[in-house]
Amino acid sequence: MTDQKTIVIGVTGCIGAYKACELVRCLQKRGHRVKVVMTEHATKFVDPVTFRALTHEKVAIDLFDDPIDPIHHISLGQEADVFVVAPCTANMLAKMAHGMADDLLSTTALATTAPILVAPAMNVHMYENPITQDNIASLKARGVHFVEPGDGYLACGDVGKGRLADPEDIADAVEALLFAQRDMEGKKVLITAGPTVEPIDPVRYISNHSSGKMGYAIAEAAAKRGAEVTLVSGPVQVPAPAGVEVVNILTACDMLSAVDERFDTCDVAIFSAAVADKRPAAPADHKLKKGVDDAALDAIQLVTNPDILATMGAKKDGQLVIGFAAETNDVVANGHKKLVSKNADMIVANQVGGGKAFGTDDNEAWFLTAEGDAQLPAMPKTELADKIIDFVAEHL
Ligand code: C5P
Repeated sequence: MTDQKTIVIGVTGCIGAYKACELVRCLQKRGHRVKVVMTEHATKFVDPVTFRALTHEKVAIDLFDDPIDPIHHISLGQEADVFVVAPCTANMLAKMAHGMADDLLSTTALATTAPILVAPAMNVHMYENPITQDNIASLKARGVHFVEPGDGYLACGDVGKGRLADPEDIADAVEALLFAQRDMEGKKVLITAGPTVEPIDPVRYISNHSSGKMGYAIAEAAAKRGAEVTLVSGPVQVPAPAGVEVVNILTACDMLSAVDERFDTCDVAIFSAAVADKRPAAPADHKLKKGVDDAALDAIQLVTNPDILATMGAKKDGQLVIGFAAETNDVVANGHKKLVSKNADMIVANQVGGGKAFGTDDNEAWFLTAEGDAQLPAMPKTELADKIIDFVAEHL
C-alpha cells in the first residue's frame, strides 16, 4: 500500500509500557506501519524483543547502536507521519518541554517535524505537580498534542489521574492527526498581531492592551492546515506557533514595511494587530526629564500612523484581505464601514471593553462581508481562528 502511514512510538520507562504493545497492535489493525523507539528504562518493563516481534522492525534504543544509520534520530523523525510518546513519563515530558536531547527518544522528539502526540502516564502526584503541569502547558503551546491520562487505581496503590489512556483512544488521536485538514497546503498567509509600540523617548511609549492571542491562534490554525505562515508581530507574551515565521517589529511604520515587503507574494493577509493610530511626531533621543523637559512633555505632538490594512486593501491584486474591527459600540455598523473604507474581503468585528476580547481567551465575533453577516457565538480564540481559516479556505 503506497499511502501507508508510519507511526513512530516512543516508549518510556513506566509500568504503562506494556500497554504500548497493545497500541502497536491497534495501529497495525488500522493499516499503519509502526516503529518503536525505547528509552533504556523502558527496556526494564518490556523486553525490546516483544516490540521487535510485534512490529517486524528493529527496535531503536541507543543513539549510537545502528552501524548502518549513524544519524538514526533524524531518519526516525523523518519517517514518522506521527510521532507518539506513549507512555510518556514525567521525566520525558520535562526533557521535551526544555528541548533536552540526551537519548535517542528525546533527540528524535526534538528532531522530528511530524506532529507529536503525547500520552502521559505517571503517579497522580507527579502528574498534578505544577512543574509537570507547566511542562504540559508549554508543550501544548508549542503545538504538541496530548491524550489525557485516565483516572483510577495506579500501580503504586494511589487512586487518581495518571493511568495511560486507553490504546484505542490513543490510536483515535493518532488518526485525527494523520487525517487532519490540510486545505491550506501551498498557500502563503501573512498575519499581523499584537500591539505596536510608538516611542516618546528611549524609555516611554504609546501602546495598547493587545495580547496577540487572536493573531497567534490564526497563525497556528493556518500552519496546522498546511499554510506557509508569516506573522508580523508587536511585542507579546504568547509563544510563537510551531512552524511559523515570526517577524518582530515595534512601530506601526516598521509593521507596514514588513507587511509591504511580503504582501505581493501572499495569498491571504489577515490584519489582527492593534496598530496605534498615532505616534509621537519626533521621539526624543534622550529621556525627557520632569522639571527639565516639561515643555516638550506637555506638548508631545502626535502624527497619524499609516493604516496598514487600508494601504494593502488599496493595492490588493487577488489577495484575500481580512481585517478586524474592535468596537465598543455599533459593532456591526462600524465594522461595515471598515469593510468598505479599507477594501477588505471580510471584517471580523468584535465588541471590546468591559473585559471583552482584549487579553481574554474567548471571543464573540461577527463575520462581515459584502455578501452578508454571520454572528458567531462566544468561543475560544483558537476555535474562532479555525473558523476564520475555514472562511479563507472556502474563498481562495
Ligand atoms: O481603523 P481601525 O484601527 O479600527 O481598524 C482595525 C483594522 O485595521 C484591524 O484589522 C487592524 O489590524 C487594521 N489597522 C491597520 N493599520 C492601522 C490601524 C488599523 O492595519 N494603522
